[in-house]
Amino acid sequence: MPTWSRSLSAIVIFAFLSLLPTAGAKRALENLGRGVVAVRSSEQEVFISWRLLALDDADIGFNVYRASDGGSSEKINEDILTGGTNFVDSTADLGVSNVYHIRSVVDGKEADESHPFTLSGNSAAEPLVRFPVQDTGPIRYLWVGDLDGDGEYDYVLDRTNDRQSIEAYHRNGTLLWTVTLGANSENQNNISPGSTAISVGHWDGVTVYDFDQDGKAEVALRIANGVTFGNGETFENADDNQQFMAILDGETGALRSKERIPDDFIADGPLAARLGVGYLDGQTPHLVAYMKNRREDKAFNLMYTAWTFDGEKIKLAWKWLRPEIGTLSDGHNTRIIDVDGDGKDEIHEIGFSLNGDGSLRYNLSAHGVIHGDRFHIAKMDPERDGLQGYGIQQDNPSLLMEYYYDADKGSLIWEHYGSEIGDVGRGMAGDIDPNYPGMEVWSFEGVYNAAENKLTSAEGAGPWPHLGLFWDGDNLMELFNNGKIEKWNPSTQGVDRLVTIGHYGGKPANGVNPAFHGDILGDWREEAIVVNENYTELLIFTTNVETDTRLYTLPHNPAYRNSMTLKGYVQSHHVDYFIGHGMETPLTPDITYVGV
Ligand SMILES: *[C@@H]1O[C@H](CO)[C@@H](O)[C@H](O)[C@H]1NC(C)=O
Ligand SMILES: *[C@@H]1O[C@H](CO)[C@@H](O)[C@H](O)[C@H]1NC(C)=O
Ligand SMILES: *[C@@H]1O[C@H](CO)[C@@H](O)[C@H](O)[C@H]1NC(C)=O
Repeated sequence: MPTWSRSLSAIVIFAFLSLLPTAGAKRALENLGRGVVAVRSSEQEVFISWRLLALDDADIGFNVYRASDGGSSEKINEDILTGGTNFVDSTADLGVSNVYHIRSVVDGKEADESHPFTLSGNSAAEPLVRFPVQDTGPIRYLWVGDLDGDGEYDYVLDRTNDRQSIEAYHRNGTLLWTVTLGANSENQNNISPGSTAISVGHWDGVTVYDFDQDGKAEVALRIANGVTFGNGETFENADDNQQFMAILDGETGALRSKERIPDDFIADGPLAARLGVGYLDGQTPHLVAYMKNRREDKAFNLMYTAWTFDGEKIKLAWKWLRPEIGTLSDGHNTRIIDVDGDGKDEIHEIGFSLNGDGSLRYNLSAHGVIHGDRFHIAKMDPERDGLQGYGIQQDNPSLLMEYYYDADKGSLIWEHYGSEIGDVGRGMAGDIDPNYPGMEVWSFEGVYNAAENKLTSAEGAGPWPHLGLFWDGDNLMELFNNGKIEKWNPSTQGVDRLVTIGHYGGKPANGVNPAFHGDILGDWREEAIVVNENYTELLIFTTNVETDTRLYTLPHNPAYRNSMTLKGYVQSHHVDYFIGHGMETPLTPDITYVGV
């Protein structure tokens, strides 16, 4: 069933279907804990938030407990909390350490107890969690995954030194392992990087996911000669260009399995890679690899591959080669999302989409779309069936600048043309104006309401089109823009500054982006992970603003969870239902939890 369907009959059919035996037909997502987080929000207050899980009982409530200065835990709320999954504690002694945990309440009885979160005595009033890391060099990207199976996210990050490496940390601060990428990571050219280089240009080459569905996340990495794993073993191969897709143990960094990457293009050198995850058959998480290299004539070879890991072996599920150079337009990011509501994910580039079996689904170039730097797929119009897409163009001879499309069919709904050829460069989608239905889309040519194709901003006004970040208490989207968290204000036609990352000693990890952004702690609002000046600390920005809105944790949304695994030119994640002003409570996603 399409999780975005809003019709009553769909809800009835959905309810009926969920009574039938399903024989493991649903995708299993992480069996997450409550993700409790607490930050000092003012002189005397602590803001605490936690996850609502997708399959929680609709009437679930919560109690919050605090243990001060090593004492015993006491419940600090009066009535059971049944609104937004957050609470403000204004009675704590903040000069001592306070340990918070929550318990869910179902049918008047307390049920699960969360992991605790400790707020140290005399913590600064700041909307973030500080996480010390080793002093081992620049960080560009960070990935999250539950490496040890305790239901909470741990951290995997890159170190982009002359020779690169990857480090994994347990969320409790313990360094778990380091993998070094060797001499073949020295070439960090962003077009033709070395065979083990990661995190350059729009390439990553790493992702983290529980591929074998045992409850613990693995690390997927494209390797070649000279990579040393977390257990000290070095992979050696006489041919530096020959690459393998590898699955590493998330807790130890040891190699679990590797398989040769098809060598169709090896005569033109190693392949740069962008990795992500999708449930391409509806049930099995597949590693999806977008890989390219450049030929002598400067044209690019493009290969998509999909892989599975069953706990023993990584296997190639399929390989797709771009039929002919120039015949399908790719871009700088990939989206993996189920656009036809059949439960199986499709793979999307700016100019074309592949079905989960690796066949071509549609070719947007048939409608005049070519390469551009940004595109989005989301539930932009709550009144329209399915999901919608929005993209921008680079130097399209037709003067097409931006367009809005049906993401299932690949047909255009509206187009905007310019007066001369140009590179639009940036484009964003999110509900930032409550005066119009659904999401707005914007580049540098004004903010448009997507559904109505109507200009909503004054001439020359509009927020910078960068990243969305749910942060404050309403349902509109806030924005992360180069070290600031901002909010579009339609009445002033300007942006209001909510948070300045630099005030806390933080900076974006790679120019303008966080190393990671996404909902990993607390309620449904999103975190942004940045670094301090010398890369010895992660600053995990997490909201300190109350909300009445109760939404299940975003990683339990299939579209959002896939998106968390993807980098490229970093872009906003989207769920597959409409979040915004006047939204309806989303349907329960058609998932189960791993291991349950
Ligand atoms: C942190 O996690 C690691 C890895 O699971 C574990 O070995 C260690 O005991 C934990 N440390 C604390 C202080 O909980
Ligand atoms: C996609 O459409 C473009 C424009 O019509 C065409 O040139 C190209 O050959 C098509 N690609 C494929 C693989 O059909
Ligand atoms: C890194 O910067 C922090 C301040 O952000 C400072 O306290 C620390 O001493 C520095 N560490 C190194 C190794 O330079």
